[in-house]
Amino acid sequence: MESRAAIWIDFLPSGDLELASNDLFEMGAMGLEELDDGALKAWLPLDWDRSQIPSDWMIQAEGEVEAKDWDLSWRLQQEPLQVTDRLVVVPPWVDKPANAEICLRMEAKQAFGTGGHESTRLASKLLEGLTLSGKSVFDIGAGTGILGFYCRILGAGHIELCDIDPDSIPCLEENAELNDIEGDWNAWAGSIDKLPAGTKFDVLLANMLRTEFFPMREQALALMPIGGLLILSGYLVKERELVMEWFAKDGLELVSEGAEGDWWACCGRRFE
Ligand SMILES: C[S@@+](CC[C@H](N)C(=O)[O-])C[C@H]1O[C@@H](n2cnc3c(N)ncnc32)[C@H](O)[C@@H]1O
Repeated sequence: MESRAAIWIDFLPSGDLELASNDLFEMGAMGLEELDDGALKAWLPLDWDRSQIPSDWMIQAEGEVEAKDWDLSWRLQQEPLQVTDRLVVVPPWVDKPANAEICLRMEAKQAFGTGGHESTRLASKLLEGLTLSGKSVFDIGAGTGILGFYCRILGAGHIELCDIDPDSIPCLEENAELNDIEGDWNAWAGSIDKLPAGTKFDVLLANMLRTEFFPMREQALALMPIGGLLILSGYLVKERELVMEWFAKDGLELVSEGAEGDWWACCGRRFE
């Protein structure tokens, strides 16, 4: 899911695999897969600190993941992409399908988010279950802006979009123009900590890895009024319990959830 290169390592951990999985996530793993031979494949950041590896774990194999070229794969897209039953995403060089209920035109350039990934699809479906009319929305890690702009099409009012990747910003601007997103929206490079204290949004969107979002949980909560909604996507099904634990601790209730393959997403509401 990540747009930059990463490494993978197949570990043979000592002891229980479930515990080893938790340990690996705590150590910064971005994704894990249990292999048939009992090894654990971990996807890790390129600059991952290997000194964290417990001395009694063995390494079976390792390698590097090529950086995913979102632009190239999108340039090869010659058909409209059905993201949900209602939403179709179309590159600028492909005709809009006549029968699409809702159509978003998207350039990808170097940004993530054309609707091909499970996490974007799951978040889009959750958005369709909400009443967004007039609501203010903050899309954290907006990429191409697909989720934030979809909210606007579904009736939302003010849309704030940010991404730590500065390459996303020209893409967001282009996509706003392609989709006639006018008036009340704002996009900037950076993250949640740039917003002035006291800012509130009716809806927060965060389609990113748990290891990317969890460090900003407190800041996200501070942006949510009582009744405010939070869409989280980019989680593995096995990470659901960690989210539920956080919700229970910090006064959020589960409104809806969905899963596709290994990926899980949910909508939570702040009730206290
Ligand atoms: C999986 S992509 C999601 C893109 C798009 N919102 C979608 O749903 O398809 C995650 C995005 O989050 C951005 N990101 C990662 N960590 C972030 C952070 N701490 N603050 C803001 N953006 C972040 C990445 O640069 C990337 O564009």
